[in-house]
Amino acid sequence: MSPQTPIITLFMILLASLVLCNCSYIVEPLHQTNSEYYYPLHDGRLIKTKHQHFGHINKLDTLFSSRSRGMISVDDFGAKADGSDDREAFKKAWNEACSKGAILVVPKNRIYRLKPITFSGPCQPNTTFMIYGTIEAWPQMSAYEEDRLHWIVFDSVTNFNVDGGGIFNGKGKKWWKNSCKFTNNLPCNDEPRPTAVTFYNCKNLRVKNINFKDAQKMHVAFFRCFNVFVSNLVVTAPENSPNTDGIHVAESQNIDIRKSNIGTGDDCISIISGSKNVQVIDITCGPGHGISIGSLGANNSEAEVVNVVVNRATLTGTTNGVRIKTWQGGSGYARNIKFMNIVMQNVTNPIIIDQYYCDQTEPCQEQDKAVQLSHVLYQNIRGTSASTVAIKFACSRTVPCREIYLHDVILESQGGGGTTATCENVRYVNRGKFYPQCSP
Ligand SMILES: *[C@@H]1O[C@H](CO)[C@@H](O)[C@H](O)[C@H]1NC(C)=O
Ligand SMILES: *[C@@H]1O[C@H](CO)[C@@H](O)[C@H](O)[C@H]1NC(C)=O
Ligand SMILES: *[C@@H]1O[C@H](CO)[C@@H](O)[C@H](O)[C@H]1NC(C)=O
Repeated sequence: MSPQTPIITLFMILLASLVLCNCSYIVEPLHQTNSEYYYPLHDGRLIKTKHQHFGHINKLDTLFSSRSRGMISVDDFGAKADGSDDREAFKKAWNEACSKGAILVVPKNRIYRLKPITFSGPCQPNTTFMIYGTIEAWPQMSAYEEDRLHWIVFDSVTNFNVDGGGIFNGKGKKWWKNSCKFTNNLPCNDEPRPTAVTFYNCKNLRVKNINFKDAQKMHVAFFRCFNVFVSNLVVTAPENSPNTDGIHVAESQNIDIRKSNIGTGDDCISIISGSKNVQVIDITCGPGHGISIGSLGANNSEAEVVNVVVNRATLTGTTNGVRIKTWQGGSGYARNIKFMNIVMQNVTNPIIIDQYYCDQTEPCQEQDKAVQLSHVLYQNIRGTSASTVAIKFACSRTVPCREIYLHDVILESQGGGGTTATCENVRYVNRGKFYPQCSP
């Protein structure tokens, strides 16, 4: 072997990776419903957006300021905000606002308690839920017997807005303490718990300037939604609260989540099967489990996740940074995923692919099938790892990860000393700086 051979080989790899990268990471532009919100992203280019403050609005924007549009307060329908169940008043006010495309107002400095409730659409276009005050979950668990999976549901709403700076408070503490994940708690049970706010089957939805606190389980979930714009959410729950994902996306397309600050006991954002064209931009996470794609493939299911971009995020003290997790035995794929411009601060597993995910008490059986992971880009990811292993690719033995790109990834140790990378069953290409490198 001549001395030049390694250099030539390296050059060829670089050239190949450039070509591959340019053709492999074209993320389809999101559906153009509103050019203000959706734009195509380009590799490595920071796209400036107007700065906005979290959970705070200066004044109603033009959408809501139209004088001709009616304002309907829940108080006009008998809501009391005195600790009793205000569900009936909310339902009546909803029916009125929904049928007129009006603005449903939840007044500020008041706390409304609600038993489980479904707000059904479709409504007249631009119906808006303006929450200035607080909506609090009914405290007695017996009220949830009919449907233990949901507290508030928005079903089949289209061209619908939620805004106002107010709070959804799930009052989750008494739900968490029965969970087997809650520390030192035996006996325990893992009975279903409600997701605080679920949007089901929605289309052209905007959720802005809302605070979510202490959900019973997940804080806000989008199921089977299409064209959703989420911004300026603040989600808070204690670090030890079980399964309290911040924002959950499932079976949904064209989802844009921005400028949100999420600290909970589980995933900051979780994106699961059936999700396509998801952009996550300007997110702050911690505490919690980081930004996750998955889990996928549980119970031998087929997964499909495509075109996910996480751009500009800061994760602080989370157990994971950017994670893809799949169970053994699944099938399908997750591909065209970009994690870029991310800062890790004392994150335990900053970059992790775990294809042996097993979140159950019994050990998982070894299985040959797995969800195929490919075309995953990690670009400009910097910061510190709380553990020695800063990069962990635990890909499937039978279905290895393909076309994994690492471009300017530098993860130092939080406590000093070096970091390492474990890379099993992964085919990757690296460009730019890359530390820690996969050990041979
Ligand atoms: C709904 O809001 C959009 C955006 O502001 C506006 O263009 C449209 O005319 C509104 N539609 C109705 C029926 O008010
Ligand atoms: C798998 O299926 C079993 C039996 O239906 C169920 O109890 C379990 O929760 C499922 N696991 C997951 C991760 O969905
Ligand atoms: C870093 O994280 C570890 C483990 O989560 C924690 O024990 C430690 O206090 C953190 N250090 C700093 C400086 O935050």
